[in-house]
Amino acid sequence: MDDLNSDLIKKIMDLKSKKKAIILAHNYQLGEVQDIADFVGDSLELSQKAAKTDSEVIVFCGVHFMAETASITCPDKTVLLPDLNAGCPMANMITAPQLIGEKKELPDAAVVCYINSSAAVKAESDVCCTSANAIRIVQNIDSPEILFVPDQYLGHYVSTQTSKKMHFWPGYCPTHARIRPEDILRAKKEHPQAKVVVHPECRPETIAVADEVLSTGGIMRFAQSTAAREIIVGTEVGIIYRLKKENPDKVFIPASEQAVCPRMKLITLEKILWSLEEMAPEVKVPEPIRVKALKAVERMLEMSAR
Ligand code: 13P
Ligand code: SF4
Repeated sequence: MDDLNSDLIKKIMDLKSKKKAIILAHNYQLGEVQDIADFVGDSLELSQKAAKTDSEVIVFCGVHFMAETASITCPDKTVLLPDLNAGCPMANMITAPQLIGEKKELPDAAVVCYINSSAAVKAESDVCCTSANAIRIVQNIDSPEILFVPDQYLGHYVSTQTSKKMHFWPGYCPTHARIRPEDILRAKKEHPQAKVVVHPECRPETIAVADEVLSTGGIMRFAQSTAAREIIVGTEVGIIYRLKKENPDKVFIPASEQAVCPRMKLITLEKILWSLEEMAPEVKVPEPIRVKALKAVERMLEMSAR
């Protein structure tokens, strides 16, 4: 570690304890950000951690909807997102007015929204889900018909695993859409013994050539428990850092080097320090939206705990 980074890290740690803050980081964050976090995980694990923390300040190293979810469950805490430009393009592919319009077209469908959505969209949904619990939520919600927003590919994958009648919104993740089946088949040719694990945000044709389809937290657990020594990873490349760190004896091959989420990489050590110094930028969901969105998030947390 160079002197500049060690100096930055020391300042962050000092301020973190002074301000009684916790640093939460998503699995796609830069390695140096993961290293200073109190907890690194997937969207479900991060929302559970945020809901339970007794720290007064949450520094969210991830994208905007993740910080919003923390603000929904922890209205009395200060939730900081070190760069407000860190938004998820898929979450922006549906607005609350669009969802309200679609609900009118499908009055019998229960609305399940992927956590990668705005608080305003969550407020118009019956329940929220993440990639880790989407199948369970869709299967267990008390309605045979589902409107799933905004990720058409996650929705499609869930529909292959459940008996529900599902309608999809045409959203998608531009990063995961870059991972093509040819990429995986090429990697498989070079590493014939490797297991292939992909995220359910991938296209159906990519999912079709995988051995396992898992959330980023699920990919971490799979890497530890599998007997395979080589693993082809079909998700955002940032996860490779944690996979290697926690499994030094295994080999991880990114399915595509193109699978980079530029917004996730906007969070840096410098911005984390600045954010703690300034107690900004804060993400705060307006109370009328928060109260409605909380119902969808709480329902998800309750259904995942069962
Ligand atoms: P996970 O909940 O699996 O970490 O996924 C979040 C995400 O944004 C994937 O692109
Ligand atoms: Fe959004 Fe895709 Fe980035 Fe995840 S990887 S935050 S879904 S754009």
